[in-house]
Amino acid sequence: MEFIDLKSQYRKLKPSIDARIQAVLDHGQFILGPEVKELEQRLAARVGAKHCITCASGTDALLMAMMALGIGLGIGQGDEVITSPFTFFATGEMIALLGAKPVFVDIDPATYNIDASLIEAAITPRTRAIMPVSLYGQCADMDVINAIAEQHGLAVIEDAAQSFGALYRGRHSCNLSTIGCASFFPSKPLGCYGDGGACFTNDDALAKGLEELRNHGQDRRYHHTRIGINGRMDTLQAAVMLAKLDVFDTELVARNEAADKYAALLKNAVRTPKVLPGYTSVWAQYTIEVEDRDVIQKAISEAGIPTAVHYPVPLHLQPVFSDLGLGKGSFPHAERAGDHVLSLPMHPYLAPNDIERVTDAVKAAVLAVVTK
Ligand SMILES: Cc1ncc(COP(=O)(O)O)c(C=O)c1O
Repeated sequence: MEFIDLKSQYRKLKPSIDARIQAVLDHGQFILGPEVKELEQRLAARVGAKHCITCASGTDALLMAMMALGIGLGIGQGDEVITSPFTFFATGEMIALLGAKPVFVDIDPATYNIDASLIEAAITPRTRAIMPVSLYGQCADMDVINAIAEQHGLAVIEDAAQSFGALYRGRHSCNLSTIGCASFFPSKPLGCYGDGGACFTNDDALAKGLEELRNHGQDRRYHHTRIGINGRMDTLQAAVMLAKLDVFDTELVARNEAADKYAALLKNAVRTPKVLPGYTSVWAQYTIEVEDRDVIQKAISEAGIPTAVHYPVPLHLQPVFSDLGLGKGSFPHAERAGDHVLSLPMHPYLAPNDIERVTDAVKAAVLAVVTK
């Protein structure tokens, strides 16, 4: 069994993916070719945003978003960005890379997303932006976060690396704030065959900035108006994504069916994930909570079921952030989650009997721990 089965997806989509790739090989415009523009138009239309600027990864999307907003980079040394400590490293990493300070706020244990009620207390005169993470495929509470940001004159960058395709109160993830940042890493619900990402915004000036930033800060060839990066999405990756986008909605239905079946079969055995009313999840991960997680993970692995831990060490406890002086106990909910979460296989090609195999293994492992 695969944790994320990209081979089955390719078998199903082979004719369209191959044709899209062949078209790029034939026209030869490997950098910013026509597929990149086509993809940007389709992605923007899908989320209802005025602009989509694709880039080379979700990490670059976060970096470019902050650069476009003038955060860090010596311009604003001492800038602070409020974010969640319970996320993939890139979220805090890009804040720090720009010379800004990540200011962590604990999560709501019900959703694993930043607890919006704690944000206001973390705002200082140096705060420039709030960067909520829409973890596991479900949005953070963006309305509340946006209202706080507006009151304090802050930008909001949604780290939507895991939530492209999710709905929040009828609106789309990536189009809920100043800039939304997606990742199209291969294992994401919508992924390419390498690294890829995108920024979304409704602000024309920010969109222009983002477009220049991803291409060495040039507004036209060899004319550089700002310091940027080489952050372009490859045309080949855009081509793959265009083929996958055609079936994305069908795949989301299958992901939700898999999640419902997991929830039904596991409901009395472990803590299953909760999707709040008015929200949908794209199930970037299907993540349960168990006691004795490492023991249970080992037992499940011995039964041939691949699992993963997203994420074992919250950012404030990462060695590189030790100078922030935030020891154990600083963010109890994030730390508890790091000790207990376990992600199960999740993809649109899971057969019902695959799910039963997983849940049987989980239940057997939990029972063995309880009766030990
Ligand atoms: C929450 C979060 N932020 C940022 C990233 C970075 O995205 P990428 O791997 O495309 O650079 C990821 C990717 O795993 C992520 O899960």
